[in-house]
Amino acid sequence: MADPFPRAFVCGHPIGHSRSPIIHGHWLAEHHLGGSYERLDIAPEEFQAFVRELPLTYVGGNVTIPHKEHAHRLTDRHDEAAEIIGAVNTLWLEDGRLWGGNTDAYGFAANLDAAVPDWEKKSAATVLGAGGAALAIVHALQSRGVNEIRIVNRTLARAQALVDHFRGSTSAHGWEAVPELLSDTEILINTTSLGMHGEPEVMLDLSPLPASAIVTDIVYVPLQTPLLTRAAERGLRTVDGLGMLLHQAAPGFARWFGVWPQVSTRLREIVVADLEDEK
Ligand code: ATR
Repeated sequence: MADPFPRAFVCGHPIGHSRSPIIHGHWLAEHHLGGSYERLDIAPEEFQAFVRELPLTYVGGNVTIPHKEHAHRLTDRHDEAAEIIGAVNTLWLEDGRLWGGNTDAYGFAANLDAAVPDWEKKSAATVLGAGGAALAIVHALQSRGVNEIRIVNRTLARAQALVDHFRGSTSAHGWEAVPELLSDTEILINTTSLGMHGEPEVMLDLSPLPASAIVTDIVYVPLQTPLLTRAAERGLRTVDGLGMLLHQAAPGFARWFGVWPQVSTRLREIVVADLEDEK
């Protein structure tokens, strides 16, 4: 018999800023489901014991910074994305085992599918950054058949490490190459923390970008980053990072609670209001 009150969680350290409880709480209420989604602050040294014990209490949950790589090592069953990315953001029980998945690449692609459905026809992408977020995004671009993926990073060795990992359609560049890369870039993606509240912004002259280019940012605080503002001023299509956060939540909810939830305008408004409150 299905658990009448399935409990799920998001765990990280710190975890106070996570919007995931708002998202899953909204979906639980919308579908009139008995169940909960809890926010858990788990320190790194407690994480292994937490994962071992969690099946006694929870049907699964989300894992965020700093535990994503550790969660990958602690789970022996992975979905394809987690296997490729090497990090887990979603845990669930299946066939008596704890599985680890990664929904970040799905969230990135689903957000673009909803906002700019023709994005997949684009063949040249420039990705700013080579950290954990870039891993998921390069995987999404590659698995959707984007032919040419240029990875730009301050530390060139990290961009090169991604190229060694993904091979094929990827190449590594320093920031000085960006003006030349932009002239035939069809999708520009910021995966760095630049542009986030309190951080310096992405300093790029966007004028070389073709008029048909799409510019997207994974930063969503603020929602309209300086990069997106400048792209919009140039008349380019822009996609903010909040959609990725909302879409990456859906597969976990479906696994734990048995219903595929909608990323609706209403949900977006609720999360935007919460972001505004924090200011
Ligand atoms: P995440 O897992 O969120 O991607 P990360 O692994 O710390 O976080 O990666 C942050 C990314 O932002 C990196 O690409 C980083 O560049 P480096 O690899 O050279 O550190 C980039 N980044 C952060 N601050 C930056 C800055 N001031 N200028 C340029 N790039 C920056």
